[in-house]
Amino acid sequence: MLPAPADARWLAPRDARDPFLVLQSPFWSYDSIALVADGEACLFDPGGRPEDVAALRDAVRARGALVRHVVLTHSHHDHLRGWDEFPEARLWLPAAAAAKPREHKQRDVAFQEVIDERLGRVGAARRFPDHAETFAERAAFTVGALEVELRFLPGHSLCTSVAFVPAERALVSADYLVSPGLPYCRWQPRAFEAAMVTLRAWCAELAIERVLPAHHAPIEGHAAVLAAIDAERAYFAFLRERVRALLAEGVEPALVTRRAAAEMRARRGPSLGARARQDGDNARRVVAEERGAALS
Ligand SMILES: [Fe+2]
Ligand SMILES: [Fe+2]
Repeated sequence: MLPAPADARWLAPRDARDPFLVLQSPFWSYDSIALVADGEACLFDPGGRPEDVAALRDAVRARGALVRHVVLTHSHHDHLRGWDEFPEARLWLPAAAAAKPREHKQRDVAFQEVIDERLGRVGAARRFPDHAETFAERAAFTVGALEVELRFLPGHSLCTSVAFVPAERALVSADYLVSPGLPYCRWQPRAFEAAMVTLRAWCAELAIERVLPAHHAPIEGHAAVLAAIDAERAYFAFLRERVRALLAEGVEPALVTRRAAAEMRARRGPSLGARARQDGDNARRVVAEERGAALS
């Protein structure tokens, strides 16, 4: 197996023919991902901690490949790390991320600095990747003989995209499907739900067999991929119904959020520990949407 920091582990390659390298860090179970083919490599949201980025780079080199592309799927601060280690590569960013107001970009960078300090990386100058090549809806390029297709898919955030490698029947899903049954929505639940409908259609059309999310575990098998997407959709359908019912009963909105979140945890059964905080965030966002809908 490839060398890795002592507390990180390789989730891919699965075998000698696998073109993916996936290094899972203990830092937020973050997965640094590379696609390597025919002496070329593309990195997807490469890091992570500096040592994880370095291990990914060394693994790519060990395969005799040059990093030609670095894809930043969206501009959340955990995904905007490591790109500046590869100045020779084409850097890709959704146009919606590049179009964010300057103060929002500064906030993304400030979050990176907070994380850097936590990781003991003091004094590192961070900046927003303003020079990246952007795409509004889709972009495509090749890594060796493999085509990579970037598709804009807002929902997790207003600027999220995903990447398909059709020949491998693989999806690099960014912060979608990181924890099926517990959607990570950091924007509008309605947009997230719409994104899941779109993603299901794309995964069916491309017969996707493998999902590589940016955190936690890969999903293997076409049926498991569709089931994971369906679990996200079922979650929000259930949550929205409960929020509507509680609001209709006249329950105060902050209490609706707490009660609905508790119901989502109970519905799931086994506790996901600290991750279950996301139920509260999802519930708060659905309550805001439903109250907006009721007011309009
Ligand atoms: Fe994110
Ligand atoms: Fe993330």
